[in-house]
Amino acid sequence: MKKYFAPGRVNLIGEHLDYNGGTVLPVAINLGVTATVQPLQENVVVLRSNTHSFSKRIDLSDEFHFDKANDWTNYPLGIISQLKNENHAIQPCEIIFESNLPEGSGLSSSAAVEIVTAFALLSQTEKQINLPWLAVFCKQVENDFIGVKCGIMDQYAVALGKKNNALLIDCDKVNHRYIPFDIGDYRLLVMNTKKPRSLILSKYNERKQECEEALRIIHTTKSEIENLCQADMLWLNILNNEVLKRRVRHVISEQLRVNEAVKVLQHNDLSTFGRLMNASHASLKNDYEVSGMELDTLVECAQQIGGCLGARMTGAGFGGCAIALVHSSAVEELVTKVSEKYFAVTGLACEIYECKASDGVKCL
Ligand code: GLA
Repeated sequence: MKKYFAPGRVNLIGEHLDYNGGTVLPVAINLGVTATVQPLQENVVVLRSNTHSFSKRIDLSDEFHFDKANDWTNYPLGIISQLKNENHAIQPCEIIFESNLPEGSGLSSSAAVEIVTAFALLSQTEKQINLPWLAVFCKQVENDFIGVKCGIMDQYAVALGKKNNALLIDCDKVNHRYIPFDIGDYRLLVMNTKKPRSLILSKYNERKQECEEALRIIHTTKSEIENLCQADMLWLNILNNEVLKRRVRHVISEQLRVNEAVKVLQHNDLSTFGRLMNASHASLKNDYEVSGMELDTLVECAQQIGGCLGARMTGAGFGGCAIALVHSSAVEELVTKVSEKYFAVTGLACEIYECKASDGVKCL
């Protein structure tokens, strides 16, 4: 019996830049998905979960397609299907999944299941697994099998996270470097709206299309750039559509904030980093329009706590989670005040937990 673990992730800054060819700065977190693998004799894989009653037994010689009825097992099925397509050997086994990562909350629980499945299955037969390759492989499964047209950030962060470090991912070149995320007496809090995210898929695709359209228009006069993150603020007037202008202003300004964030983190200037988080949230709220009443309430309330350096939504938006960087002495006050205010405004109970920058996928 062998055990593997893949973490969730939060993005510190650089939102909605991955599919625009920019650089993003996520951390893998200390919550995630564990897979326990037990070899079997017959040519089958059995998928079970300690958190879902639904389970599935598949014959490895069958073909699989996405099917809503397969519930959470669509993620491991997508991985198995793609491994087979690429002629990787798969050992018959039972995999039991266990998770302490809230699902559907924007903390990349699906990427964690994909990465841990692929890593666990490949570990049975292959000596060395190339992690950037693994991230791209799993992203492709999410795009093609699951049908979610996400960028590379989530799978990459889940695969390559590193304890006490953020991951600066160049989503155009698909490589990374580590940036120390040493926050001393400060704490990174995740604030979960607990809001069901119904609009997320359609709105996510809408933003992607708006960015593609904006790049197409900019290309008519500025053919030198390869992606939207390389555009210049001075070019905004090429776009005569006000909505597209705001979308592109977010993309360009967010890329500048990522560049600045990397500089200030290298000098451990957490105050400036916090201000960049606040500015990022304002841009996602006003220009990119992917926040919402629930996320804004959490973020604005957290920002008012003395000792909170910054707060912002993280991930795709439209619900999900926000993060806050706060001094350890102010954590209790933040949790109490934000929870009370959030409940009074939304009628929902939020969840707030501390998380730590942690390692990516590993064998336990
Ligand atoms: C989701 C997607 C990512 C990324 C973020 C927004 O998490 O899966 O690829 O686009 O939204 O930054």
